[in-house]
Amino acid sequence: MLLDLIKNRKSVREYLEKDIPNEDLKKILQAGYYAPSWMNSQPWKFILVKNPEVKKLLSELSGNQNHVKSANALIVCIADKNGWSKEEFGKVLAQRGIKESGIEKIFNIPMLYPPLLGEDKVLLRSVEQVTYAVSYMMLEAKELGIDSCIIGAISNEATIKNEDIIEKVNKALNLKEGEVLITIITLGYAKEQTQTVKQRKDFNSVIHFESIGNKIDF
Ligand SMILES: Cc1cc2nc3c(=O)[nH]c(=O)nc-3n(C[C@H](O)[C@H](O)[C@H](O)COP(=O)(O)O)c2cc1C
Repeated sequence: MLLDLIKNRKSVREYLEKDIPNEDLKKILQAGYYAPSWMNSQPWKFILVKNPEVKKLLSELSGNQNHVKSANALIVCIADKNGWSKEEFGKVLAQRGIKESGIEKIFNIPMLYPPLLGEDKVLLRSVEQVTYAVSYMMLEAKELGIDSCIIGAISNEATIKNEDIIEKVNKALNLKEGEVLITIITLGYAKEQTQTVKQRKDFNSVIHFESIGNKIDF
């Protein structure tokens, strides 16, 4: 059951020295590739990293988090702000069967076309899309018996910038202008299979019902 998979997934930060088969890595990447996105915009890139030197650089980017180095593989998730250019976004809209005049209309509606609202909103919308893909990839990994951890504490446009390391990483990953590294997913097999109780806020403090009745007694 998917809910069991979700409940059993946990962030794993210590890994065995064991290779993940390529076919499993492909399945995990496919889960991100098929994730939903705003009007199918797909403003993202996913970069598979296995090289120890690049892992070391990425660990440095994430404040020297050790599991970035020790994971068997990393998926670096990029928010691609270029995905919103009229050319790129126009292509996916046309693929949906929207006519040129319809596409032009979309380019003039701020709710549908984030560049009209400024750079920050473009980044916000791009990050929003990437996070869905991240969740899909983590769950596919778990389904395959592969553990993971999201790494969000990294230097980038959305946090504190350490230009020196960002420049090195951008070079190592061939990142272009407008491509922002948002998240790294560490992947590997857990060193220890421990059962932990999920620490979450109280269910009733997070789940609410509309005010006009209809409260379900779960
Ligand atoms: C956006 C985001 C960023 C995160 N960044 C980090 C990180 O930089 N390093 C880390 O070890 N864990 C990171 N985590 C993992 C969280 O600490 C973890 O998901 C949370 O404590 C709940 O634990 P669980 O994943 O085991 O259920 C991040 C999680 C999310 C969703």
